[in-house]
Amino acid sequence: MAAISCAGNTHISQEAAQKAVLDNIMTRTSVRQFTDQPVPAEMVEQLLRAGMAAPTAMNSQPWEFVVLNDRATMDALAGKLRYAKMLTQAPLAIVVCGKNTLIGRNGEPWDNIFWVDDCAAATENILLAAHALGLGAVWTAAKDDRGEIVKEALGIPDDLSTLCVIVIGFPAENPQPKDKWKPEKIHYNKY
Ligand SMILES: Cc1cc2nc3c(=O)[nH]c(=O)nc-3n(C[C@H](O)[C@H](O)[C@H](O)COP(=O)(O)O)c2cc1C
Repeated sequence: MAAISCAGNTHISQEAAQKAVLDNIMTRTSVRQFTDQPVPAEMVEQLLRAGMAAPTAMNSQPWEFVVLNDRATMDALAGKLRYAKMLTQAPLAIVVCGKNTLIGRNGEPWDNIFWVDDCAAATENILLAAHALGLGAVWTAAKDDRGEIVKEALGIPDDLSTLCVIVIGFPAENPQPKDKWKPEKIHYNKY
């Protein structure tokens, strides 16, 4: 059986690695209640590394991330975002931002229509990494009107748009993953 190397120099079988990755995807679920235990800096970096490992259109990597761990800042933001009240009891949040305008090789600016796609891929990677690290997390929407609120609150410049605020911490609840498997949603070759 093939063995692969993992962090910490331990070796697990390829089969076990595949199962672990798929289990992580299938058991992730949104967590909205957190203990007050801070998230260690090494874990924060692992989350950000996972985010930046996501695929992006033309490999443009248009993202920037604002890490929130200041109680007053997070409480103030929670007061402005109706659907992100759980920020008040989380020790960490990551605001995922994307450059809506990029500069081409000819020096001309172009409208980056892919920033949402790219930032969504980074967001899912961060959610999955959080779950793998034993953290809980929830994607809270911060686009459009809500994005303007977040940008103003955090001083995010105009050439960046925000996609979401990922609220993160050690879980204080144990929600069960939802079964979303619906074979009738799958079509082969033709609808
Ligand atoms: C684009 C998007 C926006 C979301 N916005 C919020 C939000 O503002 N507040 C919230 O509590 N959850 C939000 N969620 C989390 C969803 O409610 C959650 O993913 C969904 O109910 C499925 O549950 P699961 O994540 O446990 O599988 C959002 C998820 C996505 C993908």
